[in-house]
Order: sequence, then structure tokens, then C-alpha cells
Amino acid sequence: MKDRFIFRVLVFILFFLIVYPSGGQNRVILHPERAKDTISREVYGHFAEHLGRCIYGGIYVGEDSPIENIRGFRTDVIRALKEMGIPVLRWPGGCFADTYHWKDGIGPRADRPSIVNVYWGGVTEDNSFGTHEFLDFCELIGAEPYVNLNVGSGTVREASEWVEYITSENDGPMTRLRKQNGRENPWKVKYFGIGNETWGCGGNMSPGFYADLYRQFASFCFGADYLIACGANAGDYGWTEVMMEKMKYHYWMMQGLSLHYYTVPGESWAHKGSAIEFNEEDWHTTLKKSLHMERLITRHSEIMDRYDPQKTVGLIVDEWGNWHDVETGTNAGFLYQRNTLRDAMTAAVNLNIFNNHCDRVKMANIAQMVNVLQSVILTRDDQLVLTPTYYVFRMYRVHQDALMIPVTAESDEYTLNGDSIPSLNVSASLKDGAVSITLCNLNPEKAISVEIESAGFHFTSAEGSVITSEAMNDYNDFSKPERVIFRPFDLPVPGRGSYVVKLPAKSVVLVRLTVGG
Ligand code: AHR
Repeated sequence: MKDRFIFRVLVFILFFLIVYPSGGQNRVILHPERAKDTISREVYGHFAEHLGRCIYGGIYVGEDSPIENIRGFRTDVIRALKEMGIPVLRWPGGCFADTYHWKDGIGPRADRPSIVNVYWGGVTEDNSFGTHEFLDFCELIGAEPYVNLNVGSGTVREASEWVEYITSENDGPMTRLRKQNGRENPWKVKYFGIGNETWGCGGNMSPGFYADLYRQFASFCFGADYLIACGANAGDYGWTEVMMEKMKYHYWMMQGLSLHYYTVPGESWAHKGSAIEFNEEDWHTTLKKSLHMERLITRHSEIMDRYDPQKTVGLIVDEWGNWHDVETGTNAGFLYQRNTLRDAMTAAVNLNIFNNHCDRVKMANIAQMVNVLQSVILTRDDQLVLTPTYYVFRMYRVHQDALMIPVTAESDEYTLNGDSIPSLNVSASLKDGAVSITLCNLNPEKAISVEIESAGFHFTSAEGSVITSEAMNDYNDFSKPERVIFRPFDLPVPGRGSYVVKLPAKSVVLVRLTVGG
């Protein structure tokens, strides 16, 4: 009798160890009854600055290049971006934007003046990639253009004329100039930014001074539908407060307010840490710092909510991503870094955060698209590598324009040296008759089982994919381009009631559940 009892207890314990290997603390509750906001596709946006090999070499090689191209744009890059889905592209900077005089980049290439790219390596910028090239490239990849105007060293007239040149149908000097340069019809450009980091490289201004300047510039951007003001650097809540206060009778001319936040894994900007050589402590710290985005968005949104409860002004996270030490042996001003599973994980975490805040976050642009910082693509001569971050964007494409389903997540702690972060990070959405749930297990050592409460949905089939790798610092390189990619992920057949998914250690998983009758 006693033996049988002990046997039963052992079976019971064994059952729980199998079903809940990490203690069964992980649960996701879907709240479709609270779903009301759409995840705007622009949250999956990118950023391309005249910096290092982002534009030249990365996107644009010129028509005479031996590298396969369409009108000078790399064919392999165009193909990869289209497969990934790129809804919006910000250009020409960054810090470069406030040194850029757009008329230098139009007209016959041979006549365009060369300038010095003062912020990024002091290299010569020959202006061969200008307004026409950027807008042509956006058409090729199917992205909405987002043009950042120059406030720091530009004039109101210059900004106003640039908007007119791009968007005007009226018969005026800018329209005539555009036609003379070969473009008959105006482009459809929705997004214009007024200055970049005006608290720093864009002019070192105070928020009050900038708010006044913003109103002046915005007043003359005739033809622009969606104007984005320069917002805070990370946790500078005072900046947001002043902007919202000083703009309170002028929200009609400020559709977006930006936020910049980079994850710098090391102890300081001088010691950011290697992109590829790191240990578990660095992994933990990086993820903790990435998760800080949640706090930043929450607090900036609270301020915005006080002034703008209708949420007419979007929070535009137009620079974000991991910023590591520049790759040894490369130009320090070019910000070239490689990209590991850790970068994939932080991209996934950030995108989940943006999804969950889609009521306020209307656009986000990872820095930067090719060969600079946390890129989705790296190139070397005619070779191309898709980074782990690329696969996250491709996997998360299902969330673009989907109805966000609020989730409550209960999570295990992932503790290292007494410091804890949640193991689980998640967001969910509904589109085309399926619920897509993107789940990250931040723990690099332990698989976790996650119970998904279906909240009344009846799921009829499940499809999954996973991004993971053997080592946390595995990366894709020119010699091993497909080490960290997404692969199909086997899932149990769903039914009514809750659903258990086992996430491998250090993984990003997409669970796509078809909703039945
Ligand atoms: O993305 C690199 C730089 O970071 C941008 O030019 C600037 O806006 C930010 O400081």
C-alpha cells in the first residue's frame, strides 16, 4: 500500500517535471475582448543614413558597378528587403541630416558638389545618392519614405522648398526644377521629420527653443501630411513634457514625436563591449537594458497621455537597437558591427514591446538597415549576409497591420548574479483568421514551458517557427551565412482550452494558431 502511494507520488512529480520543466511559472493569457488597436506596419521600419557603408556599398553601388544592380541599387539587397517586408525607410540621417543640403544631391551627378561627412569618419560625400535616388529606391523596395529635414544647419526656406520639390503638383520653381531633373510627377511622401537629435548633434538646443523653431519650420512645410518632431533622448522625460506643453495648441502640426534609445551593453559609451565576444553576464545585461524600452515608452506615453488623451500624436521610436564596439580593424566612424543571436533576441523583445504599445507607438526604425549598427543586412563587395536580426523582422512580419491582442504574461525569473529579469517576453495579434504569438525565452540555459490560455478561441491548427542556435554568440558571417536563421518549429495540435508550448533556451518562437468556428 505504502509502496503504491510512493509510486503514485513519484509518477505525479515526474509528470510535472516533464510538462513544466522550469517550474510551470510561465503563462500567457490572451485578452481578445480588450483588443482595439492595430499594430501599424511602420513599427517594422528601418533607417538608412549617409554613414559608413550603409548607402554607398550597402544600398547603392552605381550603375557601372560589376555588382548586379538596378539603376545602381544592389539587386540582392532589394530582393532581401522585399522578402523581409520593409514598410518605411528613414533617410538621410541621423546626425548627417542636419549637415545635409538637399540641393547638393539633385541634377546631373557630375555637377553635384562633394562635401565632407563631418560626423562620420570625415569621408568625402559625393552626393551621388540624393533625393531622386532615395525615392526611387523606396519605390523599388515598396517602402514609404520618411525624409528627415535639416534644422541644425539648414533654413526654413530650404526645408520648405525640399518638401515642395518632392510633393508639389503646382506650377512653381521647385516643381519645374524637379521636372527638369527627370521626374514629372510628385512623389507620395507622407513622413517628414523636422531635425534630428536637436538636443545633441542636431544643434544642442533646449526643448523650449526647439519647440518654437519646430513651429516655425512646420508652418512652411506645405504639402507634408505627417510631421515628426524631434523627441527625447532615452529617459529625458523633461524634453517630452516641454514639447507636449509648448505644442499643446499646435498638435495639428505635430503628428509624431520621436524617441531615441540605444541598448549599449557595456558600462559606458567608451566601453560598449564586443558584438560577438561576450559572456552570459553581458547577455543578461544587454537584455535587461533592452527591456528598459518598456519603461521608457510607458513613462513617455504617460506624459503624452496627460496632454493628448486622444492619442493624436504618435510616439515614433525612429532610432533604436544595439550599439556595440566597432568591429576591430574597421573605420571607427563607420559603426560596423556584427550581429549574433543576442541581437536577434533584443530585436524580438523590442518589437514585442512596440506591439504591446501600439496605441501610442506608431512607427519605429531600427538603426541601421545595412552595414551600420544593428543591421538586417551586411555586405562585403558582391557578397551579402542576412543577420539574425533580419530573421526576426521576417518572422514578425505577421504582426504588421494586425489587431493587437493584449496579453498578460506570468513568467519565471531568469536570475544571474542575484539580478533577475523575466524569462518570457511576448506579444500577440490577430490577422487573416490566425492569432500570431511571438514569444522569447531570454534564459540561455533553460527551456521553458509556456501555457497559453486561449480565452475562448477555438484553434484548429498550429504552425511555428523558431530562431535559436547552439551558442548565444553565434552569428551569420560571409563564410557561414545561415548559422542563425528561422526554422520550422513543431507544435502540438491545438484544441479548446489552454495550449502548452515548450520554448528552447535562448529562442524566439512564432506560434500561429488558426482560429476555427
Ligand atoms: O545611428 C547613428 C547615430 O546615432 C545617428 O546619426 C544619431 O541620430 C544617433 O546619435
